[in-house]
Amino acid sequence: MASKGGIVHACSGCGFSSPRWFGRCPDCGAWNSATGSVAGEAVAQVKSLAAIDTDDDRISTGIAEVDRVLGGGLVRGSVALLAGQPGIGKSTLLLQLLAGTVATGGKGLMISAEESLPQVARRALRLGVPLDHLRAVASSSLEVAITLARDESSEVVIVDSIQALQDRRTEGAIGSLVQVRECAAALVGYAKESGTAIVLVGHVTKEGSVAGPKILEHAVDAVLGLEGERTGALRLLRATKNRFGSCEETGVFAMTKSGLEAIADPSSMLLADRATGVSGSIVFPNLQGSRPVLVEIQALVADDVSPQPRRVALGVDSRRLALLLGVLSKHGVAVGARDAFVSAAGGVALREPAGDLAVCLAVESALTNKVLDPRTIAVGEVGLGGEVRRVPDVRRRLAEAARLGFTRALVPVGSDTEGATLRCVEVTDIGEAFRRVATVARAPAA
Ligand code: TYD
Ligand code: MG
Repeated sequence: MASKGGIVHACSGCGFSSPRWFGRCPDCGAWNSATGSVAGEAVAQVKSLAAIDTDDDRISTGIAEVDRVLGGGLVRGSVALLAGQPGIGKSTLLLQLLAGTVATGGKGLMISAEESLPQVARRALRLGVPLDHLRAVASSSLEVAITLARDESSEVVIVDSIQALQDRRTEGAIGSLVQVRECAAALVGYAKESGTAIVLVGHVTKEGSVAGPKILEHAVDAVLGLEGERTGALRLLRATKNRFGSCEETGVFAMTKSGLEAIADPSSMLLADRATGVSGSIVFPNLQGSRPVLVEIQALVADDVSPQPRRVALGVDSRRLALLLGVLSKHGVAVGARDAFVSAAGGVALREPAGDLAVCLAVESALTNKVLDPRTIAVGEVGLGGEVRRVPDVRRRLAEAARLGFTRALVPVGSDTEGATLRCVEVTDIGEAFRRVATVARAPAA
């Protein structure tokens, strides 16, 4: 027998054990049956990566956009977190997801820790999904949740929300750091042991971090964010962490009367309401994951001078806007003591500096009251010296703009514009961009 803590080799056939490794079991004669363990614990085996089965066992959510963002569906034995501000549509999306799963033959369970069953059922009715196979329980108890998931042998379990769940063995109020951490850890353990795919709802604060501990994001296998302006219909679903796929894809949805509907052509939708003949507007091809989506950037500069001028950025990073206003001011385009508002229309959040040039052009247009050519797009990062810098994927952005009828593009000098069917105007700095952007007319004075 092995000394305490040493490695024990046991035959997987007959259970014979020996402190020494054996190629053939001296007891039952089986070949290659020795498995190692340290003091009764299985020893992790070192293997060639080439020999590892990398196919994840996936369950389709029945919603193609969601499957794509996940990398091909929910992975059995994994936990995903769906994060988003209250009211953005998390419960709606997950109810649709559960309905989609059961429609394809999967077994699903909704654990509603926030809403009563009549509330959940009313939402399902509004969504028009078949209710028969939608199983749900209203409980905030972690133990109840896991016990019922096991009893129901559910393949997909939704927990709405992790902040409303309580582990009775743990101290601390519901939603507190310890509670969230312990509940998440228990659910991760259950998912792995049972092969269940679990999706947790997590509320985020206005600032965009998941309310509660960052540890939640570390504990789960995937973090999906549902974003958008609550007032607008557009919703974007993207993975910020994905152990089983990329974080490149973005799902685009519209919140409608019957829930979230996938949008196949987000650019058209975003540009549908565009006003023409107004100053302070230009279109920017924003990369949403791997897909370019055209977004209108709007700027408004109020005429009156305020003692404390406001700078409001919607869908544009406010520090980025402050920086760009500084650069503009240095180049003779000074907002000064006037209020300035910049917004990415439709509730899209610009995350890449590639939108800088469009923001600068929109602000300049708003200040000078010149209407920019509505068929021009602008793309480029703006540096502190006012120089226009190159950005990734210009070709794909131009192709999307051309598809939607744009004819002219302001791009950073040296950009890869091969194959572009619209006219590309290369600019080196914002001064040149202001000179070369085509203007239609001066807007009528308000
Ligand atoms: P909800 O999914 O409850 O948001 P969350 O779980 O993220 O807090 O839904 C949010 C809003 O969506 C709610 O105010 C009502 C609206 N809504 C629709 O517009 N259409 C629908 O079909 C549903 C179910 C909700
Ligand atoms: Mg909800």
